[in-house]
Amino acid sequence: MAQAVATRDSTELNIIPGENLEDFVTFVIKDQMFGIPVLKVQDILTPHSIASIPLAPPEVKGSINLRGRIVTVIDVRIRLGLEKLPEGKAGMGVTVEQDNELYTLLVDKVGDVIGMRGPLGNCFPIDDWKGKNITIIAGGCGLAPVWPILQTVLANKKDFGELTLFNGGRTSGDILYRDEIESLSSEMKVQLSVDAEEPGWEDYVGFVPSNVLDKKPSPKNAIAITCGPPIMIKFVIQNLAEMGFSDDQIFTTVENKMKCGIGKCGRCNIGKDYVCIKGPVYCWADLKKLPLDY
Ligand code: FES
Repeated sequence: MAQAVATRDSTELNIIPGENLEDFVTFVIKDQMFGIPVLKVQDILTPHSIASIPLAPPEVKGSINLRGRIVTVIDVRIRLGLEKLPEGKAGMGVTVEQDNELYTLLVDKVGDVIGMRGPLGNCFPIDDWKGKNITIIAGGCGLAPVWPILQTVLANKKDFGELTLFNGGRTSGDILYRDEIESLSSEMKVQLSVDAEEPGWEDYVGFVPSNVLDKKPSPKNAIAITCGPPIMIKFVIQNLAEMGFSDDQIFTTVENKMKCGIGKCGRCNIGKDYVCIKGPVYCWADLKKLPLDY
């Protein structure tokens, strides 16, 4: 298999180097990085000689003369409702073209030009799950990829049946989104677990698959989505099957197989599939046909 992986290349995957790859000029505003397509950027400068514009909104610092063109200067911090740059820090100006007009955006600093490709891969087919009860089963960091499902279901409650969340961590300190889960506990069934006894823990003690088996969510008109360590996924699926869930009622995501995420390294392949291109979300009915140890 290692040889097969090594001989695959981007041509075989129909990924042409450069295709879908877009370069962005990055800049920072208060520790957050943003990007603008490089083709929109006309100039990067340290702004000076800014002429003020009477009665302009607060974010409009004024205008500059850029090689004969009058360019409006916008302070992005003020536009975003943030405090001004500290006194003595000038920032940088990124001049961009939009609708045939030039604007200079005042930012904290300008970073590298980076190339981005994507989006690649698939996503959870949540529209197909409308009208069904949704059971999310997560362990450790596996809650993060499925958290948007939970948020979508809660934001569109009338479209779905009952929502249940199983979530476990090695210790209570390893349980992600604990405060958020607590605040949402009146809107869904929550089943938390930790692997071993610890002082003050009143919920289930044991592994996530055992908690699922203990609580026995009904397979009737239901979809179960599981994400977490591979060993957890393996036993969750076994237990769901034991409770009567059919293969097409179970979904999982195998992004833990991915490394580069852009179809280059060949480390994510399972059988004929590259997870980063075809996945990472799979229905168990499809995944079980592939040579994967789940
Ligand atoms: S080819 Fe690198 S993660 Fe898929």
